[in-house]
Amino acid sequence: MDRESSNLSSPSQSTPPRRGLDNIVVDWTRVSFVDGEKGRLFYRGIDIAELAAQANFEETLYLLLCGSLPTPVQCEALGWKLRHLAMPPDRILRIIKELPRSASPLSALQVALCSLTCLEVGERLSPEESLFENALRVIAQTPVVIAAMHRHGQGLPMVSPLSTLNHVDNFYYMLTGSIPSKMFSRFFEIALIVQMDHGFNPSTFTARAVASTLSTIYAATSAAVGALAGPLHGGASSRVMDMIEEFRECRTPDEAATKIRAKLRSGERIMGMGHRIYRTVDPRARILEDVLLQMTSRKEIRLDYDLLKMIETAARTEFRAHDRRIYTNIDFWTGTLYHHLGLSKSLFPALFAAARIVGWCAHILELRQANRLYRPLSEYRGEIGVPYTPRDQRERVMT
Ligand code: COA
Repeated sequence: MDRESSNLSSPSQSTPPRRGLDNIVVDWTRVSFVDGEKGRLFYRGIDIAELAAQANFEETLYLLLCGSLPTPVQCEALGWKLRHLAMPPDRILRIIKELPRSASPLSALQVALCSLTCLEVGERLSPEESLFENALRVIAQTPVVIAAMHRHGQGLPMVSPLSTLNHVDNFYYMLTGSIPSKMFSRFFEIALIVQMDHGFNPSTFTARAVASTLSTIYAATSAAVGALAGPLHGGASSRVMDMIEEFRECRTPDEAATKIRAKLRSGERIMGMGHRIYRTVDPRARILEDVLLQMTSRKEIRLDYDLLKMIETAARTEFRAHDRRIYTNIDFWTGTLYHHLGLSKSLFPALFAAARIVGWCAHILELRQANRLYRPLSEYRGEIGVPYTPRDQRERVMT
């Protein structure tokens, strides 16, 4: 058949594709709003700076899932529910123990969430009850899974959650074996709160796309974990830590500036800088910088803080000189903060997931209220009407 004369209709070329879905609005949401121009973030209309200053983990979770802040009684009940649902089935913990010690806590989380689908946990409830209950279940069990894998990786016994601790303190306790001080607990809580949701970021979009097929919440959240695992999304904070080590030898701002220029000239990206949406400093970066600043009475933290500021200034000067609106994002500060809270680098992407799982669940619940299958179009650029060459007539050498 002559390819040119094929009477198959060719795909419409009227709308050019927006690669990476740049600036494409795919759905409505009331969960969070990212104002990229002004550098502001709102959860259900409340400024993230206010939540970071005043709210606790449970309140923010309730706000994102249910749409308004809880009363003290509702907050207490949520805390109880999270503790009650925290232990994953024994089978999940046995699966984690079978994973190689080198597996990352984030990949163990993906395995555990997938496995919950196989165990059909929560299937006995009605569909609406089941979705909300299962959302709380995955949020509650995520820290236990991450901590179990982290300790398995280190050859340490798993630490079970304590019924006397809240979600955040239990998470810290299961990871490290010690109950955090009031200050560490609050700083860890703030870091988790500011990472809970962020518009249609890649992992949230993934969660929504999978959930839109009416797949289980476990399948949707495990797919979201897969999206988060990439270095352009959830892996930047540990890379910032590597960058700090590279800059330690710089004694002066000039030396840092020379290093930044060399990196940019060789096409390297400065980790913890740049964002698809923000055209100014990421508001979460400001909050976490402030938290780290509160810890700088310790000399080694002061040194790291000063080094980060030196890198930021050098990079900003260079970006400004080239008229680029590239500023610090949240990951510029998270790694150093976690490190000084006593949490190791291999955990950083999983800590991000332990916070973002709240947002994924909020989005899945929202979508399911008026579900619409996500099914975008693509612009086909291949040929049409290519004849089928019989097997024995094809050349052996593949080009
Ligand atoms: N360092 C150096 N250059 C950067 C940069 C960075 N951190 N971030 C963006 N740029 C440059 C790109 O090289 C590109 O330049 P070009 O137009 O000359 O090709 C331009 O800015 C646009 O980059 P692009 O990748 O199209 O923007 P994006 O919106 O897709 O990028 C990120 C967003 C987050 C992927 C990007 O800023 C990045 O890679 N940052 C580092 C990783 C990071 O910190 N991730 C955490 C995000 S919260």
